[in-house]
Amino acid sequence: MVALAEQLTQGLHAKRKIGVFLGAEQHNVKYDIEIRDDIWTWYGGRVKDYDATFSRVLSALHLGSFREVLAARANAGLPTNVLDLMGGDASFLRDLKLPANRQNPSPLNAGLCVTLVDGRRESWRALDLKLNIEVLCGDLTSKNTWKLIDERQREMSIDAFDLIACRGGDGVLETMVPKALYPFLFGKIWDRLTSKEGLFITQLPETVRPRELLKQLRLIPGTRLSFQPATKKEAELYPSLGIVKTPTAPKSLI
Ligand SMILES: C[S@@+](CC[C@H](N)C(=O)[O-])C[C@H]1O[C@@H](n2cnc3c(N)ncnc32)[C@H](O)[C@@H]1O
Repeated sequence: MVALAEQLTQGLHAKRKIGVFLGAEQHNVKYDIEIRDDIWTWYGGRVKDYDATFSRVLSALHLGSFREVLAARANAGLPTNVLDLMGGDASFLRDLKLPANRQNPSPLNAGLCVTLVDGRRESWRALDLKLNIEVLCGDLTSKNTWKLIDERQREMSIDAFDLIACRGGDGVLETMVPKALYPFLFGKIWDRLTSKEGLFITQLPETVRPRELLKQLRLIPGTRLSFQPATKKEAELYPSLGIVKTPTAPKSLI
């Protein structure tokens, strides 16, 4: 009995500790994630890292680097709002936004990063506020997180995202995101991606069966697809997938 009581107290203590660590009190957000999330601390992949990871997908889709993709949209008068799923400390978004000057304007309008842990230092939080970059702590496998994404999207006046990226590293492993949840996640992502040539680009676990996945995805009309297997290069240790949503694609998959 004593051992059980001790375990329960320890469990509660650990949950509370994680809540504080995740910034739950500060952001007034309710979390439903478990202690395993404590493993995620500071991960700051920058634009060059994302370019290296996804260069084969981007080039198979006849797209340039991420900066070029966004700059081309901006030049065509289209919005450039980015959702970075499993986005670590939002370094990708911050890096996209900076440095910006008259010769070299930022290709990013607004950015939302979703992560389990907000490990940003204070100075970055203050900077991000000025840069129109927000970080939301939540578990993507939870419906509640998608409600929070919607709320934040509305507050940021973003109709749809032009680029949705997920360079989650170990976060994409099947032990973290079971394959059975893919339809749920893909549906949520699809709903939030613009039909004006919106790009969803993601890493996948090694266990994914490309033939099966592509067969399903090819059933969606009005899309362009690229799947690239993993290689031995550090930036390409996971398979990657890119899909472009065009105006003839269904807005929603439900
Ligand atoms: C290896 S880091 C990658 C960070 C960044 N994308 C990069 O390339 O440096 C994995 C990130 O995924 C987040 N993550 C893992 N599982 C998640 C989940 N179920 N929901 C939301 N974020 C998750 C972690 O909090 C962490 O920010």
